[in-house]
Amino acid sequence: MIDLLVTNASELVTCRAEPGGAVGRAIERLEVIPDGAVAVDRGRVIAVGPTRRLRRMYRARRMLSARGRLVSPGLVDPHTHLVFAGSRHHEYETIVTGRSNPGRRLEGGIRSTVSQTRAASHAALRTRALDDLDVMLLHGTTTVEIKSGYGLDQATELRLLRVIHGLRHSVDVVGTFMGAHVLPAEYADKRDAYVDLVIRTLPKARRYAEYCDMWRDTIGFTETECLRVAAAAVRLGFKLKLHVDQVSPAGGAELAARLGATSADHLDYISARGIRAMRRSRTVGVLLPTVTYHMLEMMPRTERGRSKPAEKAFWPALIRSMIDGGMRLALSTDYNPGTSPTPSMQAVMQAAARLYRLGYAEIWHMSTINAAWALDRGSDRGSVEPGKRADLLVWRVPEHGMVINRFGVNLVDTVVKNGRVVVEAGRMTAPPRASLR
Ligand code: NIG
Ligand code: FE
Repeated sequence: MIDLLVTNASELVTCRAEPGGAVGRAIERLEVIPDGAVAVDRGRVIAVGPTRRLRRMYRARRMLSARGRLVSPGLVDPHTHLVFAGSRHHEYETIVTGRSNPGRRLEGGIRSTVSQTRAASHAALRTRALDDLDVMLLHGTTTVEIKSGYGLDQATELRLLRVIHGLRHSVDVVGTFMGAHVLPAEYADKRDAYVDLVIRTLPKARRYAEYCDMWRDTIGFTETECLRVAAAAVRLGFKLKLHVDQVSPAGGAELAARLGATSADHLDYISARGIRAMRRSRTVGVLLPTVTYHMLEMMPRTERGRSKPAEKAFWPALIRSMIDGGMRLALSTDYNPGTSPTPSMQAVMQAAARLYRLGYAEIWHMSTINAAWALDRGSDRGSVEPGKRADLLVWRVPEHGMVINRFGVNLVDTVVKNGRVVVEAGRMTAPPRASLR
């Protein structure tokens, strides 16, 4: 007798791929099992196949019929700034109606979130984070990465990391220390002193975080500064993630590849050299289409009544060259109050098609198995296959392309996390915040 048998999926998309993720032409080949079923025991998938075969093979304590709808792996969100206070919707209206200098705007916006976050208590940050995790789970995310980086002083950075580390929720959380996000205003003329502070914080941060992230860009930190932080972090056993080349061609992708980072994220101004370096590494490139959407980066602007071309109209061609160049790629929300205030990976999948012109199979791989590799968890989750964690979604629609073709509504019906049904008919089953680990 096994724990759970999921049956009657019109399509079971497994998102299975080679170790390291779906790359090159393989990213276009999505495995779809018609009338599929999944056998689950002790939190893990033990078999996958047609419903008729699995029904003959197993008897289960719990049967879950997908009733002719799509079944997929849980979505993995490998890059968020989920713990923050306040909102930047006022600032956003000024961006929408008349664009200011994008670089300055971003730095100033981050600093305003920093002041609001510094003023917030542990309890307030925690409650808000748990509410956001509820929303993520209801939208199909079963694993999320969360960074600090809105503290930028030792006490607040550690407070954020304690909040992240202490989150008990059905969604699995991977913690990241991002003291090297931007230079805080009070260190404006003392860059080295701030980098020293980040390095001094690392040993304490290590208790709460698996990854260390830094922003290699004109707004963030120089290559030398990043190398100092990275060297100290690696000595303490941190794995690395980098924000790179978001506002300028800063050689960040090359740096991430050279450092053996698990992922390099943003990549807006990646160079041909950067693409080659990433291909030769195991570093996963993480793309963030809801940033492109929200920041209107692919929309023409008007300046004094005249139309100006879009800032990042080159995105679809650039991404095609990343895929053709053999890079591993994933998608993520970058959930934060400034550049991407959405916690929904469905919104990301839908934006990836419309803005980046990616195909359905590409988007599914990039939101599941490749996103799991962007957290170094691809051998444990991100696809539906024997041995993997039983993180499954039953959708309200019968075909995987419909999840991307439709937009603006939540299409997740049921969420299974570690083999337990935690969302049913679009609602959380009690207790929503119990730890399943
Ligand atoms: O990932 N690139 C740096 N940080 C964020 C921006 C966060 C914010 O605007 O608050 C990002 O887009
Ligand atoms: Fe980010």
